Amino acid sequence: MERTLIKDLKDNIGKEVLLKGWIQELRNLSKIKFLILRDRTGDMQTLAFKGDTEEESFNALDDFTKESVVEIIGTPKENKTSHWGIEVMIKNIKMVSLSEVPHPIDNSDKSQTNIDKRIDYRFLDTRNLKKQAIFKIRSKIVKIVGTYLESNEFTNIQTPKMTTIGVESGADLFTVDYFGTPIYLSQSPQIYKQMFVVGGFERVYEIAPVFRAEKSHTTRHLTEFTGVDFEMAFIKDEIELMNFVEEMLVDLLTKLKEECSSELELLGVEHKIPEDIPRITMGEAKALLAEKGKKYTEEDDLDPEGEKLLGEIVKEKYGSEFVFLTNFPFAVRPFYCMKSEADSNGTKSFDLLFNGVEIATGTQREHQLDVLEKQAKGKGLDLDKMPEYKDLFKYGCPPHGGVGFGLDRITQRLLKLDNIREAVLLPRDPERMSP
Ligand code: 4AD
Ligand code: MG
Repeated sequence: MERTLIKDLKDNIGKEVLLKGWIQELRNLSKIKFLILRDRTGDMQTLAFKGDTEEESFNALDDFTKESVVEIIGTPKENKTSHWGIEVMIKNIKMVSLSEVPHPIDNSDKSQTNIDKRIDYRFLDTRNLKKQAIFKIRSKIVKIVGTYLESNEFTNIQTPKMTTIGVESGADLFTVDYFGTPIYLSQSPQIYKQMFVVGGFERVYEIAPVFRAEKSHTTRHLTEFTGVDFEMAFIKDEIELMNFVEEMLVDLLTKLKEECSSELELLGVEHKIPEDIPRITMGEAKALLAEKGKKYTEEDDLDPEGEKLLGEIVKEKYGSEFVFLTNFPFAVRPFYCMKSEADSNGTKSFDLLFNGVEIATGTQREHQLDVLEKQAKGKGLDLDKMPEYKDLFKYGCPPHGGVGFGLDRITQRLLKLDNIREAVLLPRDPERMSP
């Protein structure tokens, strides 16, 4: 007999079926036994009756434990009064793999063990279908964004994660012993994205791990996260990048509604499709924040409290969960950002905030070597010490720019999870390197 999935039971009313899965709940009374079975498609009440169910199976149920793997042969019947609308009458049940009890964590919706312990036993935690829904949605985000980029003629590239070169600040680098030589874990694919834009592809993207040696203990930082990065050539300015990001986001949020409706419903999450994401300069953002008593100098970056407050202000003022922050001061941006024409202290760079948390950073890159060298020098850097980067600008380099998203943060914000760790199967932070 072939296996029937729980989601297909409604099409098999009255027919004998074979179900396979885990025991979610078990309640044994003397003449009737209730067992909720779960497979990857859902859960379902099954019932064993003294006299109807084969005697050996009926008696064996007394020794079964929750989370054991079983196979059930039975017949689905309609039952309008039950939560499922259907229940399955058990003919016989076979133990496949008995679970030890007690379980190390409680993953039920009623009483959850704390997140640390649940991650220690993540494979038990994800047996809760709500947890699986998070990762099914995350999986679809990767698919939808990848498809969007492909259909806009971006080439998916895989770049090294072990490297000796980089362009971000050296402070966030993890050093690794590579046969006696110190090397680093990649803290951004940016230099490689630029390399292959210059390499003639014009449009490249990568969805891959990014490593940051930040000793942050927050609900938004990890030491390993998944970057969704793209880079494109022959852009006119950073506005073109923001337009592209906005279209990509609308496509993502629209398709998620279509393709993940049941998962979103299970999680009780509804999201709006943004129309016209507001774009405000850092100067304007600081003025808005000052009105609420949060003061910054012209050269400051926003701190997390400022971002959060700005998220609230933007929601009230523009009715938007998203906001582009533009024209970041050169003082708080890396040397490679192109400076604004209108404001020599500003850059053609931006952040995208989603409900008060940064989910992406992008910029038009400076592509003229003489200007780039000057900008590097202004930050106390010597481009001659970065020959692999410097070379990119010597042999014909188109104007270009790129954006890096954090997949974990998008998932967290979209699903309104209180901690980024809920959006990552096996998070890495300063305290956690296992399992
Ligand atoms: O803002 P970041 O550092 O930008 C860059 O990586 C640049 N090189 C631009 C580029 O083209 N890649 O990182 C990009 C995004 C952030 O907006 C954030 O969403 C996410 O990556 N991110 C983190 N996510 C989780 N934990 C961390 N420690 C993160 N650091 C950045
Ligand atoms: Mg950033």
